[in-house]
Amino acid sequence: MSELSVKHLLGIKYLKEEDIQLIFETADNFKEVINRSIKKVPSLRDITIANIFFENSTRTRLSFELAEKRLSADVVNFSASQSSVKKGETLIDTVSNILSMKVDMVVMRHPNPGAGIFLSKHVEASIINAGDGAHEHPTQALLDSFSIREKLGDVAGKNVVIVGDILHSRVALSNIFALKLQGANVKVCGPRTLLPKYIESLGVGVETNLRKALNWCDVANMLRIQNERLDISYFPTTREYTQQFGVNKALLDSLDKEIVIMHPGPINRGVEITSDVADSKQSIILGQVENGVAIRMAVMYLLASKIK
Ligand code: CP
Repeated sequence: MSELSVKHLLGIKYLKEEDIQLIFETADNFKEVINRSIKKVPSLRDITIANIFFENSTRTRLSFELAEKRLSADVVNFSASQSSVKKGETLIDTVSNILSMKVDMVVMRHPNPGAGIFLSKHVEASIINAGDGAHEHPTQALLDSFSIREKLGDVAGKNVVIVGDILHSRVALSNIFALKLQGANVKVCGPRTLLPKYIESLGVGVETNLRKALNWCDVANMLRIQNERLDISYFPTTREYTQQFGVNKALLDSLDKEIVIMHPGPINRGVEITSDVADSKQSIILGQVENGVAIRMAVMYLLASKIK
């Protein structure tokens, strides 16, 4: 396979396993590029990309912008809080105005699930979903799987547990789709109230005992509580949540084997993960961030090759 089966990256749900492998092979090359002294390649010299963020972001936004600059694309940044969205402009009007300035690709984060899908039906540009509400965050899942492949050699056959607020997490859903597509075994772990009822229909196991989940897995992907999406109380107190579902060094050291610890960020230190775990040798959290740039370069490079 030499090109992606899709014109947009709207979710992992729309990818084939071969798409993921092509993105990884392309990212391998770009990872080598970004570790050189000259980190820039001219691959997207004639392409203009707009980063449109309607929600806060540190990693994703910086990572996309850096990836675009490493590929020599022209970049414009748009933040909803400083824009005319505040004056009542619609999403399509906002994006159409940006596209009339001859933009080829849009990287969009939006609080509404499906916002990227909606946009892709109304504009010509290639759309990359940088997180849409509690729906999908495809580049995060790609960089997570790429990091597992880098650390453990392969994703197929590995046991991965995703711990925490699965109900409100786009990272969880995209990871489940990506991991299952590659043949990993996936479990989710958290309070029953934060595990969606449909989750087992995705071929995912459920475990509410963290120690059992950690003893089963090769990799634990720790998620934060998505406080910005909690409309009611899903557990009694943060202290109680941490006691039952937080990973600390004593728990990690008492397991039957050495597992890999991941986290998409932002970390709430002392809640879902203690600092000595986040900063331990078993943690690949900063490696995930580094891999994010190579993965996003690969995605944009492959999608740009489909722009007519
Ligand atoms: N992992 C992630 O999406 O982080 P940001 O919200 O900082 O982009």
